[in-house]
Formats: sequence, structure tokens, C-alpha cells
Amino acid sequence: MKKCLQNMDVKNKKVILRVDYNVPVLNGKILDDSKIKENLETIYYLLSENCKIIILSHFGKIRNEFDKKKYSLEIVANRLKELIDQEVYFSKVNFGQEVVERVKMLKPKDILMLENTRFMDLPNKLESKCDMQLSLFWASLGDVFVNDAFATAHRRHASTYGISTYIPSCIGFLMQKEITMLDKLVVNAQHPFTVIMGGAKIDDKIELILSLLPKCEYLLCGGGIANTCLKALGFNVGESIVSRNPLVIQKVKEFLLKYKDKIMLPLDAIVGSTYDKNYVKYKLITDILDNDVIYDIGAKSLEKYKTAIDKSNTIFINGTVGMYEDMRFANGSKELLRLITSTKAITVSGGGDSASSVRNFGFENKFTYISSGGGATLQYLADGHLVALDPIKEEIEIETLDM
Ligand code: 3PG
Repeated sequence: MKKCLQNMDVKNKKVILRVDYNVPVLNGKILDDSKIKENLETIYYLLSENCKIIILSHFGKIRNEFDKKKYSLEIVANRLKELIDQEVYFSKVNFGQEVVERVKMLKPKDILMLENTRFMDLPNKLESKCDMQLSLFWASLGDVFVNDAFATAHRRHASTYGISTYIPSCIGFLMQKEITMLDKLVVNAQHPFTVIMGGAKIDDKIELILSLLPKCEYLLCGGGIANTCLKALGFNVGESIVSRNPLVIQKVKEFLLKYKDKIMLPLDAIVGSTYDKNYVKYKLITDILDNDVIYDIGAKSLEKYKTAIDKSNTIFINGTVGMYEDMRFANGSKELLRLITSTKAITVSGGGDSASSVRNFGFENKFTYISSGGGATLQYLADGHLVALDPIKEEIEIETLDM
């Protein structure tokens, strides 16, 4: 395990705390504040150690000025203030002399949240490319760096990786919990092990799917991954979300052939249409037309997936199999969660959408573990490596020392 917060001297220090406050938001309202709640243990500990806390987080992806308006962390700072019932100062800038001055004014137990780290991605991707000067600037604001942003620990960014190359660093309580639980439940999974993959991001996940396939007995697909597989097999998927990357499609074809006994694809779907937003129809996968858009899986697919679920001792779900936010296309995701949680298997959910759907449909207490990470959890399961933690020293194992 990497150096842990409880073994780090943080008393009376200025601590830079990296968290993942990438929360789902609709019309300026936070839909699910679990990610904010999950770091509270670390924040309370730092307060009890009399620290001055400087919080860094990304929020969304920043590609233009419009994204900057959409993804200001100020609403998150306000929510944190309500949750901990103390002032959380917010700085609209995250770089430069103004920030240095704000930090100088902090008193012990004060909390200052800086604006979204990815605002520094405009114009030159300084955060995402782990710019040295930016890393050094953020590092210069504190004495110690605490990385508690599990959900983004698979990214080598200035605020996740860069800072810890300059100042003493450790991992917070959420990071420790995630690693311990994932090691216990899924890295060392009890077999048969079933992975359920849904969601829209396909190109991002392709390498991870390739690494996961040898480790599981079944891969049940939904969403864009299922559509891309169906298309690669020659089915018409109409206007459904698919990968358009020829390299990805080639890889999909290869793994469909190599792992044909493990991969399960939908037999039926609930479709919408490109020309009529009120059009909702049940169809067999063989009957999809050019204007159809697959938005959910149907009853026959659920029946098929149940055969694998019932044999499993561990089930990991990432993403949803339908557009569950729209009640017309929510049944597949909801029923799948019901099937999973009615077994005796160890059940783990990873990813923002999966976690939100689990909570929305009321299955929160039926899961063995809900991870705060999506891409990070998949990456950890695939190869046990989280790049952001590389610069953080390992704990010294007392029993291995020669006395
Ligand atoms: C997540 O929500 O999975 C994390 O915050 C990572 O977000 P990213 O994919 O935009 O880096």
C-alpha cells in the first residue's frame, strides 16, 4: 500500500487535498452528491489535525469557454459548506498571485477550494498534459499533498500526478478504502466472475475490455459496447451509438471471435427513432431498421443474461445497459440490477452512471460495494495500476525490516 494519511505528519500543515468532485449536474443542480460525501472522512481528519486545507478537483471536460461556465466548482463548494457546516472559501482562479495571497490568509482549519483544475486545459491542456510549471505552482501552495481522488487516479495530470513529484505525498482514506475493497472483492474475485459493461464510452474502454476478458467467465454487454459488437457481427443497429473508429471495430471483431463463449449480447431492444421523439418500440435485434436507435435491452436479453448471473459468485457492473434517465428506457437497467442483487454473489458497481442508477432505483443497500470510480476502477481491475499514485512512496513494512 502507498503511504497512508494516518502515517503522515500533517499536524498544523498546509495540505493540498486532491479529490474527485466530478458530480452529475442538471440545470445547475447536483443530482448526486455521493462523491462529495465520500471524501468527508479525510477532510474531518485534516481538520482534527489543525490543517489549512486547499482543495483541488476537476469537473467535467473543458474544451471551450462554454464548458467553463458549465463546470465551475462553486456549486460544489456551496454543497460542501452545507455538508460540513463550516465556511468553504472559493477562489474563482486556480493559478497566480491571487491564489498565493488567498493561501497566505488561511488560518488553521480553514478550507479553500480552487476553481476546476481543468480550466487550465484552455488553451494548452496544461492540467491534462501534466505541465511541470503548473504542477510546481500547485505544489508550492502546500507542505503536503494528499491524493484522495480515486476516480481520477488513472489520469497522469498536473493535479493528480505532477504535484506529488514535488512535495511529500500520501493517499487519503477514500483512496485506501477503494484499493482495499477492490483488491478483496474483484481483483481476487471468487469465480465464476461476471463483468457487465454498458454506457456510451466505447473507444475509452476497448483496451480495458481486452484485459478483463481473460479474467472473467462472462462479459454481458449493453449500451454502445453491445451496439458496436452487434454491428461488427453484421447486424443493422440503425442510428444507435457505436464506435466509428476502424481500429476499435477491428479489435471488437477479434475479441468476439476469441472469446465467443464468454461474451453475451442483447437479443432484443427497446428502440426510439431519429425522426420522432415519441416513437418507442420493442424489437428483436434482427429487426432493427435504419432510423431506429437502441436505447435499452429487452426481456429476452435479460432472460439470457440471467443464466450467467445465476452461475456467478462475483458480479461487477460498469455503466448501464439503457438510457435509464428516461423512464421509457429504464426497465433493462433496473431489472438487471434486480437480477444481480437477488443472487448470493458479491456485487460491485463502478462508475458514475452505474452508481447513480443503483441509487436511483433503490438498490444501494443491496450491493456489496459501490466504487466511486468508473475508468479508474476498470483500469485497476485490468492491470492493478493507477498512474497517479506512482510518485507516492510505499509504506515501510515494519515486519520486513531486518532488526
Ligand atoms: C469520473 O467521473 O469517472 C472521473 O471523474 C474521471 O473523469 P474523466 O473521465 O473526465 O477523467
